[in-house]
Amino acid sequence: MSVGSLQWGGRFRRAPDPALLAFGSSLEDDLLLAPFDLETSRAHVRALAGGGAIAPEIAAALESALDRVAAEIEAESFAAWASEKGFEDIHGAIDARVREIDAVAGSWLHAGRSRNDQVATTLALYAAARARDGLARVTAIAAALAARARNALAPESVLAGTTHGQPAQPILLAFWLQAAAEPFVRCAQRFAAVAREAMAMMPLGSGALAGSCLPLDRAAAARYLGFATPSRNALDSVGTRDALFACADAWARACVPAARIAAEVVSWASPLVGYVRIGDASASGSSLMPQKRNPDIFELVRAGTQRVLSDAGTAWSMSAAVGLSYHRDLQECKQSAVDAIERADALLSAFERAFADLEFDLATMERQATHGYTLATDHADALILHGLDARRAHRLVGERVALAEEQGRSFDASDLLALGEAVGGTALAAPLDARSSVRAKATEGSSSPEAVRRSLDALERELAAIASER
Ligand code: ARG
Repeated sequence: MSVGSLQWGGRFRRAPDPALLAFGSSLEDDLLLAPFDLETSRAHVRALAGGGAIAPEIAAALESALDRVAAEIEAESFAAWASEKGFEDIHGAIDARVREIDAVAGSWLHAGRSRNDQVATTLALYAAARARDGLARVTAIAAALAARARNALAPESVLAGTTHGQPAQPILLAFWLQAAAEPFVRCAQRFAAVAREAMAMMPLGSGALAGSCLPLDRAAAARYLGFATPSRNALDSVGTRDALFACADAWARACVPAARIAAEVVSWASPLVGYVRIGDASASGSSLMPQKRNPDIFELVRAGTQRVLSDAGTAWSMSAAVGLSYHRDLQECKQSAVDAIERADALLSAFERAFADLEFDLATMERQATHGYTLATDHADALILHGLDARRAHRLVGERVALAEEQGRSFDASDLLALGEAVGGTALAAPLDARSSVRAKATEGSSSPEAVRRSLDALERELAAIASER
């Protein structure tokens, strides 16, 4: 007798087609859900025993059978056992193993329970745990970037900040690093919210869709698992994967800043730019060109993010195609969402390691910082501060830039003298080097050393507050 026909009890006369069973199985992908399914089963035993649906001895026997499965999962023997038998999913596999260990008690485990509420609960627990992991991951990345920003403040390292990839205005490297850290702080807030939402309502005890006639103590189960409360509507509970998808979303969102930083690192690492050197531990060579030092990890982070984003989006869109309640499509959604989460975690871990291995070439950055007339805006601002209107200031400085460009030289004191004539005849008091330029910035959140210091203080305070809420 095959597992398939055992599984469905008396309804079927013939065993299922093994090829179709294999097609419909998510077992391999589910193995990482095993600890969460076990917790769900332990909670269900409490619900059954608490409501008086099973005798205390049966509950105790189920607990010890579940302990044994936990030990087998820990020892990695369970996966081989389950794979060989060919189950549809981890939930069926664990239930079958419990029955194999203790046939009498094991036959009570599924009382009042469907795989529909079981899988929904398991996935909520997984989502909450992985959101907490994500929170720790992005917090570590943000903290490392902030620490590196502080280091870049003494001495004040400068570079040409860009827009459209073109030289724009000088900025502090510390300011760039802080800009890299900020989105990860927002991601940390998002992960904290997802972890809370995932544990708001417990699906367990919803049965297949309508609840149960058995006296299940759902409150006891919710308390055991750490959910705020049992869910309000069984039909909604079995058909929703909001927590899982929100978790996948949060991970995908966290990959986006990593990909954008990676894109910048890839161009900075080119010897034609020379702002960073990819460390030996993270660079790749070429099988043909002996001189190469390639930024492969950053390229994989950039491309891998696309995969994560599409897996996370696919999960949502697949679920939008079906009506309320459980549909098998939700199994396919689960796989997309879990893939997104696991892939994103690996990606961000690689990003964190490779970024730590980067060396900035501060001298090259500084040498290029005023290249491309990046002080022009400061000069226009100086004219405005002397009372010239913004349009005229812009035009006058633009004309001097055009002239300097024609003469093949950078901006110098002669330009400040010429501009000064427009505002009363003295040389304009305006920066002619990148460091003076950033120091002249006066607004909150700007690239001045003082503003960056204050912003880093605030960023680190926010990280500490998020960590203490956990
Ligand atoms: N294997 C399914 C999944 O992971 C769970 C089974 C739910 N119920 C069912 N009637 N097929 O989504």
